[in-house]
Amino acid sequence: MFERIERVPGDAILGLIEAYQQDSNPNKVDLGVGVYRDDKGRTPVLATVKKAEEQLYQQEATKSYIGSHGDTRYTQAVTRMVVGEDSAALNDQRISTTQTPGGTGALRLAADFLKSHLSGRAIWLSDPTWPNHPAIFEAAGIEVKRYPYVNADNRLDFDAMLAALREVPEGDIVLLHACCHNPTGFDLSEDQWREILEVVKTRGLLPLIDFAYQGFGDGLDQDAFGVRLFVEALDEMLITTSCSKNFGLYRERTGSLMVLAANEEQMQNVRTQVAIAARENYSTPPSHGAAVVAEILNSQTLTEQWKQELAEMRGRINDLRSDFVAAFRPHGLEERFAFIAEQRGMFSYTGLTQAQVKRLRDEFSIYMVGSGRANIAGLSGDSLEYVARAIATVVK
Ligand code: LMR
Repeated sequence: MFERIERVPGDAILGLIEAYQQDSNPNKVDLGVGVYRDDKGRTPVLATVKKAEEQLYQQEATKSYIGSHGDTRYTQAVTRMVVGEDSAALNDQRISTTQTPGGTGALRLAADFLKSHLSGRAIWLSDPTWPNHPAIFEAAGIEVKRYPYVNADNRLDFDAMLAALREVPEGDIVLLHACCHNPTGFDLSEDQWREILEVVKTRGLLPLIDFAYQGFGDGLDQDAFGVRLFVEALDEMLITTSCSKNFGLYRERTGSLMVLAANEEQMQNVRTQVAIAARENYSTPPSHGAAVVAEILNSQTLTEQWKQELAEMRGRINDLRSDFVAAFRPHGLEERFAFIAEQRGMFSYTGLTQAQVKRLRDEFSIYMVGSGRANIAGLSGDSLEYVARAIATVVK
């Protein structure tokens, strides 16, 4: 029965983990998968996570199931973090939050919900976007379409984006990245968010904002600007969130799906349907990561310490961005790569071609995604110059 099953190439991002591990070059540099790294190349467990885990170890009394929507201490705290403490929509009980297995699980849950209840609508994704976005929505049976995001010179092409969104059929779904756009690192300004909101309202579009990097761009509140603007201005939208990066909980699969409805009654209706979609998909979410986040966000002391750890991660990446640009100076390429300092979050869309990325890997053991996306957090004080020199070699 299995004789017709064909082998396929591994995932473009996750496949790099193994390829990197197998490389014996002592100078190898991993700029592939989006995980934070410190200057020694490690992805440590945050100190606040360790403290929360110690507390949980003492307190946890059961391993029984948590409900379809997960741990309410977690969902309530995370909703406040995303929409803000004084959100009118939150106070009006218009937001349903469901704990999910990571941001990917949130996206799949959103996709299943949309397919079941708003069938026939396409979803519009930025071109480029995280490669798993189209994969998830296509797997759920939703038609995927694209709007432009960067131009040929590798800069945000806001005019083209706006013009394309103005042509999206009424009622279609538009996926936006809240901050730290993956893969490009080019984010929308506050004014640009306002302009997109006007188009969303005029065209009657349903926004789905993917918020996987809160706190990695400019700050927890700053990064939430677009999300909060939309939540307070619209009747309906979806938000998917992740604690993989900001709490460093990657493998604990900790995320959420938030659905904003026009009133509490409709929110409760939607909520029951989201629970069904979760039940049919993975039943109930894993508990540990969400329990850790709940422990941190419900303690003022741990929250303050965690914000400090988050600020350190963000600061290191932003410093690396300017140091990386400076490392191109001896090669006469500082201006060409100046945009790296303007991008935000873990990723930089370098503008390198597939062939150049391949040469970096084959000749220098530098690993980045084939699209030219580099994880800036994978750089270190030691590797900056090596990587800049290697890039200078392949672009000349
Ligand atoms: C990435 O884009 O590298 C991360 O979000 C990890 C993943 O699952 O792809």
